[in-house]
Amino acid sequence: MTDARFRVGEEFALAMDASDPLSPFRDRFFIPQTHQGEDCIYLCGHSLGLQPKSTKSYIEQELKDWAQLGVEGHFHAKHPWMPYHRLLTGQTAALVGAEPEEVVVMNSLTVNLHLMMVSFYRPTSERHKIVVERGAFPSDQYAVKSQIQFHGFDPAFSLIELTPREGEWCLRDEDIEAVIDREGRSIALILLGGVNYATGQLFDMAEITKAGHRMGCVVGFDLAHAAGNVPLHLHDWAPDFAVWCSYKYLNGGPGCVAGCFVHAVHAKQSDTPRFAGWWGHDEKTRFQMRPDFHAMAGAEGWQLSNPPIIALAPLRASMEIFAEATIPRLREKSTALTSYMEFLLKAGNPTGFSIVTPAEEGRRGAQLSIRIMKRGRELCDRLTAEGIVGDWREPDIYRVAPVPLYNSFRDVYRFAQHFRAIFMNTGSPVC
Ligand SMILES: Cc1ncc(COP(=O)(O)O)c(C=O)c1O
Repeated sequence: MTDARFRVGEEFALAMDASDPLSPFRDRFFIPQTHQGEDCIYLCGHSLGLQPKSTKSYIEQELKDWAQLGVEGHFHAKHPWMPYHRLLTGQTAALVGAEPEEVVVMNSLTVNLHLMMVSFYRPTSERHKIVVERGAFPSDQYAVKSQIQFHGFDPAFSLIELTPREGEWCLRDEDIEAVIDREGRSIALILLGGVNYATGQLFDMAEITKAGHRMGCVVGFDLAHAAGNVPLHLHDWAPDFAVWCSYKYLNGGPGCVAGCFVHAVHAKQSDTPRFAGWWGHDEKTRFQMRPDFHAMAGAEGWQLSNPPIIALAPLRASMEIFAEATIPRLREKSTALTSYMEFLLKAGNPTGFSIVTPAEEGRRGAQLSIRIMKRGRELCDRLTAEGIVGDWREPDIYRVAPVPLYNSFRDVYRFAQHFRAIFMNTGSPVC
């Protein structure tokens, strides 16, 4: 099916870029270069986002204050380190649609996932199951299985994997709800990716949360592929918790400090069970060094250690850019870019590959997952050699994501040109 909004020629891409109000943001990022010194076509923001040019100065400021002030930097740095993580609270809350007290940046994604399960996966003999997507990201699978085992249950009985219908790649809403309705009384926790890492499917988090809560289940989301990619309204959708990383669409840099959301209904309860550390202790009495733990109100009450300032600095650089660009504007460009890419890839009804990401714009973020029937790995390597950066996920998925902050319509156009040309050379004719 063709999309009347788009045209196949390069002039169309150039005209779209010329009228794109967000196009100046591209200059605020370092674009990796080819061996010939040209900009790569970087379509890998779903894996590692690009470096804002401002990142260095944010880190340098903290290095400078550390050099000049030593421990005094906790109170007298330009941005004092004691409350430094709070510089990110407002922007993080806006990004995920939360109240400020519901969010905190801390640790890494899988660590936060475990911390949330310590609090919110409280299995009983009647209610002990965890629901995940089949083929959820391996770290999530390891985390949930190890939690099930830690509590003395067996993943063979306590893990439910939601599986697409025969011949389909994505899950249908009604099938997710049917499992929740059928198994609900034995389900302790529903844990889904907001956007599935392999297919790029965006789940209806509001409806899943409602269905789960109707059956008395806890609902959590891994938003690794959703944060900074799609609009989120976590407070209103009301999952019990959510976690995400900051190195993909959030451009915080490799292994950057992650995010965590605890809904106000729990965040306000200082007696919610948790693993405790001194940075989660009430800050008014933290330095009295008393032995008893009193949790801070809000998601900050789940912090363990004092925050890594030099690792948080890049996230500040990135979040400033998000605050300027704003999610609604980014989403508008993102849906256009992704649909344009799909339009170009499908033009002429090619065979030999298929797009497994849902076609409906409301059901996906920036990413397209392209299933390659034959010699896909070879295709991926050849594209990489041509300066096109996507990634390969076994057994047969090539993932690409045009990111609205730094990708242009021309990037998408050039990618589609290369993809089709190289694809023909792999022995699987395109048209
Ligand atoms: C969906 C998802 N969950 C979990 C992880 C693991 O993240 P981390 O290594 O930051 O814990 C990733 C990493 O890419 C991911 O994509």
